[in-house]
Amino acid sequence: MQDPSAHDAHNGKLFIQTVGCQMNELDSELVVAALRKHGFQLTDDITSADTVLFNTCSVREHAEHKIYSALGRLKYSRRRRPQQVIGVMGCMAQKDQKLVFQKAPHVDIVVGTGQLSEIPGLIEDARANRGRHMAVSLARRDATRQTVAASFESYDPLRDPEMRPSAFQAYVRIMIGCDKFCTYCVVPMTRGPEQSRAPRDIVQEVHQLAAEGVKEVTLLGQTVNSYRHTEDGREYRLADLIAAFHDTPGLERIKFVTNYPRDMGDDLLQAVRDLPKLAHYLHVPAQSGCDEMLKRMKRGYTVADYREMMQRIHATVPDCAVSSDFIVGFCGETEEAHQKSMDLVREFRFKNSFIFKYSARTGTKADAIMLDDVPEETKRRRNVEMLELQTEISEEDNAERIGREYDVLVEGPSKTALKSADGEQGPLTQLTGRTRCDRIVVFDGNRRLTGSTARIRIDDCTATTLIGSIVTREFQHAPDGGLPILS
Ligand code: SAH
Ligand code: SF4
Ligand code: F3S
Repeated sequence: MQDPSAHDAHNGKLFIQTVGCQMNELDSELVVAALRKHGFQLTDDITSADTVLFNTCSVREHAEHKIYSALGRLKYSRRRRPQQVIGVMGCMAQKDQKLVFQKAPHVDIVVGTGQLSEIPGLIEDARANRGRHMAVSLARRDATRQTVAASFESYDPLRDPEMRPSAFQAYVRIMIGCDKFCTYCVVPMTRGPEQSRAPRDIVQEVHQLAAEGVKEVTLLGQTVNSYRHTEDGREYRLADLIAAFHDTPGLERIKFVTNYPRDMGDDLLQAVRDLPKLAHYLHVPAQSGCDEMLKRMKRGYTVADYREMMQRIHATVPDCAVSSDFIVGFCGETEEAHQKSMDLVREFRFKNSFIFKYSARTGTKADAIMLDDVPEETKRRRNVEMLELQTEISEEDNAERIGREYDVLVEGPSKTALKSADGEQGPLTQLTGRTRCDRIVVFDGNRRLTGSTARIRIDDCTATTLIGSIVTREFQHAPDGGLPILS
């Protein structure tokens, strides 16, 4: 398993815990792949690890608490393992910097999102020379945009197929950073200025992934539809980029997250309509249904603008599923404003919504100039109310699908199957997959169907899941196009 060219074949056991968004999941995958090349072996047992890394998130206070508590627990194990190296990487490392060492004095390494390539060297330094090692990017106010951008380096080393969470699904980074500066959000600080990767590099990465058996790629960016890059005198927007690799042999499905409402161009919607591999699914967070709140959030659109965008989505791609994010209890949110968000959920009947209680973040404009005046109790109630409404809508919309048939890209055994020993016994396992509209489907089938497309009839549902059965055909073809598998 180890790379024979690794200069140090025995670097001990590595434990990594990851919180936050898909960007962090991808960063962890890439960092672990790089460390394996340096002779580290991944373990899921933190107590026996020689190196412990936390890939952190700062988007809400809760995510930070989780990591500081985990760090607190390590204080004692560290006494037993004085050689252990503890590193904090990612968004909280960039945001808190030296504060991490103050809050958790046993931490050896703090590495921002723009310095991930330095991690192997920093671990080596920490072993050779105990003490604090830190590598972070410039703060946005400390230099020109260009200089700050240069200090945030996109980390895109060669992919290691063994480190992918799934053999046939992969994330592909197309941008880093964000320039929208929504007043509540730390991401422009923790991920730096918006920078799009070169189309040539992205296309090459997708080709490599497809050659390794990847069927589904999810393009990642904080505002993925703001992608813009000029190469050889030609400007590429997201639709152009997708067209440049859409026909890659072996690739079957393409998704992209997260979209920014104001940048939802017609060219992109037409691509979703016309290119057969694109999922009919868009995640476009609304955040609020009240113009006053949207203005305070500095989202750059009104409810009417969002409605116009939804009309364009449905006019161009009639069966497109849309999901959203909402923040409840933002500074100054009245009961009336909250009801307007509830109305928006009712009007657009999102496939699903992620609903968050506002969490004031140091360094953001809202924290500096607005009052976090909605009591915690009210935030909680609004959160529950909106979640109940969304759940009801999701369940109703799923129920309408009972009796219909869908092509489902099979992802593998479901969580239930993985947990229960039964899954290992009979020839049939509960499998999970997604429709082209990104709806989750579970059904019984042979686990060798993983990575292939199966025709499924929907028999039942919950708010989050369609429950179905394989439409019997004589044969289902194996994903590699090899021997047919009797389903
Ligand atoms: N780039 C994405 C999402 C970034 S963070 C976008 O622009 O849509 C993911 C979600 O976390 C956001 O959509 C927002 O709903 C939520 N969020 C961000 N900052 C928050 C805060 N301070 N408190 C509560 N929720 C927040
Ligand atoms: Fe944060 Fe707004 Fe940028 Fe999304 S668009 S990452 S919410 S600042
Ligand atoms: Fe969190 Fe950073 Fe992602 S703050 S949501 S891990 S970009």
